[in-house]
Amino acid sequence: MRRIEDEARRMGSLVENLLRLARLDERPDLALDPVDLTDALFDAAQDLRALDPARQVMVVSLSGTPLSVQPHLSIGVLGDEASLRQVILNLVGNANRHTPKGSPVEIAVGYTSPERVRIEIRDHGDGIEDDQREMVFERFYRTDASRVRSATQGGGAGLGLSIAASIVQQHRGSIGVDETPGGGSTFWVELQGTEIAPEQQVRPDQLRALGAPSAEEPPSADPDDSNPFS
Ligand SMILES: Nc1ncnc2c1ncn2[C@@H]1O[C@H](COP(=O)(O)OP(=O)(O)OP(=O)(O)O)[C@@H](O)[C@H]1O
Ligand SMILES: [Mg+2]
Repeated sequence: MRRIEDEARRMGSLVENLLRLARLDERPDLALDPVDLTDALFDAAQDLRALDPARQVMVVSLSGTPLSVQPHLSIGVLGDEASLRQVILNLVGNANRHTPKGSPVEIAVGYTSPERVRIEIRDHGDGIEDDQREMVFERFYRTDASRVRSATQGGGAGLGLSIAASIVQQHRGSIGVDETPGGGSTFWVELQGTEIAPEQQVRPDQLRALGAPSAEEPPSADPDDSNPFS
């Protein structure tokens, strides 16, 4: 009975993903608006912790400084919020599904240039063989390790990353995977950065911690304003 339910769930998610891909193929243009990425990343970290409470999940800057929910740091990218959340969900879902339970995951975010924002989902699982790393973005591709798994063991259809790649392409961004130093996979996405509403803007000292180029000097700083990164 359990197997039938698992199979049914798997078929349901396969159909959902196929429809999602068909829609992406059909509608390559998206309205791109400023989206706060850190919100989406903190939500993803929360989801991952809920799926596997034994897992240490941290949201960090690209250099590894932990970011906290408060004070909230906003990093704006030009995008469609629901689609970008889907990308993050697919990557974080893979970190959960394709790595051993309880292994840590870091979700990193920061600027690589004034207009370029990078997200990394760094896991510490078994990683992906060099020769399979590019192929995982192809439709229905699964590595040997995943292909032997049934629905009950968390086997998927091999569509999540191709959906993520199509969405990132719609955003004129890039996506890829590298080896995590020490072992594991680091999936990364780069998107066009943008300003978001002034009340949500990040203070210059916080921006520096995220790797943003310091184009401006901090405005008259409040001495009581403590820097969360110091
Ligand atoms: N973090 C990861 N660590 C190791 N292997 C991974 C990781 N993420 C993806 N893979 C490999 O890449 C393959 C493709 O991933 P993709 O998300 O497209 O499909 P899936 O997770 O198998 O199924 P679904 O369609 O439900 O997402 C996986 O089957 C797995 O072999
Ligand atoms: Mg997947």
